[in-house]
Amino acid sequence: MIHYKELGLVNTRELFKKAMDGKYAIPAFNFNNLEQMQAIISACVETKSPVILQVSSGARKYANQTLLRFLAQGAVEYAKELGYPIPIVLHLDHGDSFELCKNCIDMGFSSVMIDGSHLSFDENIALTKQVVEYAHKHDVSVEGELGVLAGVEDEVSSEHHTYTQPDEVIEFVTRTGVDSLAISIGTSHGANKFTPAQCTRDANGILIPPPLRFDILEEIEKCIPGFPIVLHGSSSVPLAYIETINKYGGELKDSIGIPEEQLRRATTSAVCKINIDSDGRLAMTAAIREMFAKKPGEFDPRKYLGPARDELKKLYMHKTVNVLGSAGKA
Ligand code: G3H
Ligand code: 13P
Ligand code: ZN
Repeated sequence: MIHYKELGLVNTRELFKKAMDGKYAIPAFNFNNLEQMQAIISACVETKSPVILQVSSGARKYANQTLLRFLAQGAVEYAKELGYPIPIVLHLDHGDSFELCKNCIDMGFSSVMIDGSHLSFDENIALTKQVVEYAHKHDVSVEGELGVLAGVEDEVSSEHHTYTQPDEVIEFVTRTGVDSLAISIGTSHGANKFTPAQCTRDANGILIPPPLRFDILEEIEKCIPGFPIVLHGSSSVPLAYIETINKYGGELKDSIGIPEEQLRRATTSAVCKINIDSDGRLAMTAAIREMFAKKPGEFDPRKYLGPARDELKKLYMHKTVNVLGSAGKA
């Protein structure tokens, strides 16, 4: 058993309290490899933002769980070396079982998500409570989820949103003891969050997705005032990346994300954590495709992973400064 405090990591308690008071959100960026970790940490150090490093079960399978944990431990040292030791949380994204959450807690994670959103209400409560009981013994934070996002969540996919029901949240948070709650108000995972048929067009023909359900968010806030809320599926799918990817051989169609203004509005509410993964994937892919197309003779991975890492860093800096408002809060 390794405790996260020995690794210099922090849980989410203080971070969420400050984010709630200061009306900003902590970025939760997924990582699977060295370059993503370097980009996240250097961007957050440079903008003095606290950060949540997220590891999904897919990431654990891809990169090896032990290596990822050591990368997170390395991230703490890397931030110090860059000259500003920002608060870093190591978080399990979409944990689907007690055993997985326990395993992560035992190997140094400071926060876990137990995603029982596909279970019945009572089963979700029972599973979440079991994780909370173990996690809290180790001062680890727990994120639960109520409501189902449209799109794909790991192996589970759902065509329609099942919005979080405000009348369920009080019972869920009191019976489980969770520290934060992921809700469904219209965000969704991946780069195709809406079909064009669900959108309207502006004067330039750009697709405008339906707005998030701020009315549901407000209802939830009334039921559990001051309780930290999490938004998954919050990539904005920048058009510039889609255009670059398709210009250099990609075939992405109908890629639509959550407009940044909607996310900025959400940060002024009880939303304390915003999850972003797909935008990072798009940034890396755009940079790598462009590099391959322009320099077809290049075969040193550093020559394409380097520019991809630079683009990622730029993206993350933009998120902390202009979207989440977490810059300068570390
Ligand atoms: O919500 C899911 C995250 O984007 C992680 O995706 O399961 O493909 O690693 P993944
Ligand atoms: P995106 O696919 O919108 O980046 O969402 C990521 C996420 O919610 C990770 O849990
Ligand atoms: Zn998610």
